[in-house]
Amino acid sequence: MTDNNALQILIKQSQQRVEKILDHWLPDENTLPNDLHAAMRYSVLNGGKRVRAVLVYLVGDALNIDINALDGPACAVEIIHAYSLIHDDLPAMDDDDLRRGKPTCHRQFDEATAVLAGDALHSLAFYILAHDPAIKANDSKRLKMVECLANAIGSRGMAGGQAIDLASEGKTLTLAELENMHIHKTGALIRASVELAALSGDCPDTLHKALDKYAKCIGLSFQIRDDILDIEADTDTLGKPQGADIARNKSTYPSLLGMSESKRWANELHEDAIQAIEMLEEKSKALNWLSSYIIERGN
Ligand code: IPE
Ligand code: IPE
Ligand code: MG
Ligand code: MG
Ligand code: MG
Repeated sequence: MTDNNALQILIKQSQQRVEKILDHWLPDENTLPNDLHAAMRYSVLNGGKRVRAVLVYLVGDALNIDINALDGPACAVEIIHAYSLIHDDLPAMDDDDLRRGKPTCHRQFDEATAVLAGDALHSLAFYILAHDPAIKANDSKRLKMVECLANAIGSRGMAGGQAIDLASEGKTLTLAELENMHIHKTGALIRASVELAALSGDCPDTLHKALDKYAKCIGLSFQIRDDILDIEADTDTLGKPQGADIARNKSTYPSLLGMSESKRWANELHEDAIQAIEMLEEKSKALNWLSSYIIERGN
């Protein structure tokens, strides 16, 4: 079996694993309030790529951490991500009708249910981190996990980045401002995924720093690729409306730098990411592959 095949299998296994665990944590839609639970399940169990969960599992694997201890963090980041997408699609934000090839949550249900599904998913993620008995970390490390995720998605993280994104519609940002926006709205949760995996076991300081550098690079390249795909892909492949950024006058890497420079920049970040974790040697292979997948993916 080639390295690439083995990696594909590893990724597939991580994706299948997190689907099952997500299903376990999400309340049944026959449980009251039915619509709210149905909306939560609809928005989480609907075929996302699960990149953030895969990242948790791959970093955990590189650090020889027991896979059961990684399930909670993997679910928590995917649940936060799903909540962020529900809110991102709302009429008050990007006003999109299609997500993962299906009507967005507020289209399938209604706006109030979508807002509440986001709220409830937000709190479910923290419940899992606080409660999951399979998380082996001692209490102080578990608290650090909660702190890490809270920081990553608050006003100085993802929510802050989303606020900058909305305030920037119709304006031309400088490259530094654009990078700052991307680092917050998308990079922060990706960085937290790596950090939560590292906190799930023992990770020496130098390796911790190296993984954080890797995470920062792929966090930014992930959103650059998202911006590129908004122009180059088609709606069917994306599962979300192509051209949505242009329609809303968003500042993106291609709009500011042009397409080829955006791709060159994503490539450079990929090179920096793999260089950052060279010390993992053989164990860096899967993470290197994930970084290249992030800048080459078609959706
Ligand atoms: C889309 O994220 C939103 C961004 C943060 C760029 P993904 O591309 O990971 O979306 P799913 O989870 O695969 O649908
Ligand atoms: C979304 O960025 C970032 C978050 C949801 C935090 P986008 O608005 O570019 O994501 P898509 O393109 O709608 O998936
Ligand atoms: Mg948006
Ligand atoms: Mg959007
Ligand atoms: Mg986008």
